[in-house]
Amino acid sequence: MTKKRARPVIAIDGPAGAGKSTVALKLAQRLGFVLVDTGALYRGVALAARERGIAWTDGVALGNLTATLDLSFEPRADGAPRLIIDGRDRSGEIRTPEISMGASDVSKHPEVRAALLGLQRRLGHDGGVVLEGRDIGTVVFPDAEAKVFLTASDHIRAGRRVQDLTSKGIAADQEKTLAEIRARDTQDSTRAVAPLKPADDAITLDTTQLDIDAVVEHLIALAQAKGA
Ligand code: DC
Repeated sequence: MTKKRARPVIAIDGPAGAGKSTVALKLAQRLGFVLVDTGALYRGVALAARERGIAWTDGVALGNLTATLDLSFEPRADGAPRLIIDGRDRSGEIRTPEISMGASDVSKHPEVRAALLGLQRRLGHDGGVVLEGRDIGTVVFPDAEAKVFLTASDHIRAGRRVQDLTSKGIAADQEKTLAEIRARDTQDSTRAVAPLKPADDAITLDTTQLDIDAVVEHLIALAQAKGA
């Protein structure tokens, strides 16, 4: 029998721009939980591969690279944790549209997914953690105490992404971002391994019309019902 965790694991999955990062951060802050942004790990692999001249199509080389990278998060009281790769903070560099698509490309390869699985499970092992990604409720923590699938219309998601990038000083165009989001949705949900989809026992919330703070309140109640 698996040992029960003292505090729950909260899995938040969904496509780009559905509000996962904002919701996960607020939820983790309110509950005093650790936040694990698993997309940042795939982004880190894409960035490291590009720097080493490894193609985002070369699954074997990417798998080997992933196994050698030292990936960790540095917690921050005032915001999202920083991604540290081999001792350097790369949080800013992983947020460009190019690396978004690269992360989706590298995430198709089973070698990369396998190399990141142990790390994600270790980070959530003791509970008291919010993990956000694409396959947390289905693959990484199928036994998570709370599973949420956030979604929203692609137009709304593209609009949020543009705002987000603009606020970080990265120029972004609505139509181009919409096309990128659609390409990433297709790629992430049709890949053979761990495709983006809600777990059978996930609660699906469509944030097209919902206020993000209302979503957070709803999820706090859910987490508390699960022992948070
Ligand atoms: O959440 P994000 O936009 O930072 O994720 C970037 C890419 O990483 C996403 O397009 C697919 C991949 N990803 C994944 O395959 N599995 C996860 N658990 C998280 C992200």
